[in-house]
Amino acid sequence: MKAVTWHGKRDVRVDTVPDPQIQKPTDAIVKITSTNICGSDLHLYETLGPFMGEGDILGHEPMGIVEEVGREVTNLKPGDRVVMPFQISCGSCFMCDRQLYTQCETTQVRDQGMGAALFGFSKLYGEVAGGQAEYLRVPQAQFTHIKVPDGPPDERFIYLSDVLPTAWQSVVYADVPEGGTLVVLGLGPIGDMACRVAQHMGVGRVIAVDLVPERLERARQRGVEVVDLTAVDKLGDAIRDMTGGRGPDSVVDAVGMEAHGSPVAKLAQQVTGFLPAAIAAPFMQAAGVDRLAALHSAIDIVRRGGTISLIGVYGGMADPMPLMTLFDKQIQLRMGQANIKRWVDDIMPLLTDEDPLGVDTFATHRLPLDEAPHAYEIFQKKQDGAIKVVLKP
Ligand SMILES: NC(=O)c1ccc[n+]([C@@H]2O[C@H](COP(=O)([O-])OP(=O)(O)OC[C@H]3O[C@@H](n4cnc5c(N)ncnc54)[C@H](O)[C@@H]3O)[C@@H](O)[C@H]2O)c1
Ligand SMILES: [Zn+2]
Ligand SMILES: [Zn+2]
Repeated sequence: MKAVTWHGKRDVRVDTVPDPQIQKPTDAIVKITSTNICGSDLHLYETLGPFMGEGDILGHEPMGIVEEVGREVTNLKPGDRVVMPFQISCGSCFMCDRQLYTQCETTQVRDQGMGAALFGFSKLYGEVAGGQAEYLRVPQAQFTHIKVPDGPPDERFIYLSDVLPTAWQSVVYADVPEGGTLVVLGLGPIGDMACRVAQHMGVGRVIAVDLVPERLERARQRGVEVVDLTAVDKLGDAIRDMTGGRGPDSVVDAVGMEAHGSPVAKLAQQVTGFLPAAIAAPFMQAAGVDRLAALHSAIDIVRRGGTISLIGVYGGMADPMPLMTLFDKQIQLRMGQANIKRWVDDIMPLLTDEDPLGVDTFATHRLPLDEAPHAYEIFQKKQDGAIKVVLKP
């Protein structure tokens, strides 16, 4: 089959690789019909390279049709239409019972000290073959699937794999009080959808920050107040001016470690890009891959006693955190990978022809799988208006 594979920093290719097979009785094989590129893939493309292996198959936002099931997967059959959540979870352990699916104790990647295995997401998360491919082996398939109805186009449902539940969790975790104000940092797919979810939930006021003109414009058209990072002197002052001098009740950081404005760490990453993986991986864990510009903004912006919801992904452990400010401002900090299936029942009723969240028109690019290298490039460089790319195997 054809699959999108990692070959080095900013080097993804479409290779022909062996078709996946059922390996365990809890596996299923799914024929992929649509599969997205995500901001998280950009970390692998650029920053987390040392944790990747040459030829690893990328992708964690796939959907398709069940082709074959292992004998213990009794709730799926060939022909079923399914979306896969980006995390692999069993549905019946201590963590899954608490709906903390990204901490699943059956699939935790213990040798790396990490949580549940993820599709297409480096050695840190189990080096499981990803979903940017013609076929996908789904481990723990009895739980790692979301059944969706036949009929509507793929794009009605595909964002259940990541974008929708992730955006949903980010807003729930932001815990905006009744009538309160939320600032969303970053208007990639996650931040953009977080604004839509916040509006849907009736958050009093939504302000979003980015620096890419078409991303700002897209949010503005949906009634979000937007701030262009490049047009303000000090972001914190600009936001305080807009919020009576106090700052917003809550901030969602939907940027993560690819943040614009973290020059020192960028250098460290570039250095590691030239080291052999065996040296670079420990270097990046210990010396830090941290690029905390967006998080530092969030800490500055949020009002005293407010909440920061970190949904952008961070790594590393070396950069200093302003603990005195966090403590003195009495900030609540909530974070983590999204527990996808925790939110699906809340979201599914919104995936109708009325399309209140605008999923049908959310993608800016629909390209054949063969064009994945080009798609990664325009998404990373934010060229050609690329905000969300759906690949069609
Ligand atoms: N926690 C989870 O479960 C989960 C799931 C999916 C994605 N993510 C993470 O969410 C983040 C966003 O993903 P995405 O798909 O929207 O990616 P993206 O890279 O398209 O979006 C990031 C946006 O942030 C903007 N930005 C950069 N620096 C900024 C700054 N200093 N201030 C404000 N905006 C800034 C960029 O211009 C870009 O539009 C990534 O870190 C991704 O890994 C987390
Ligand atoms: Zn994703
Ligand atoms: Zn589990």
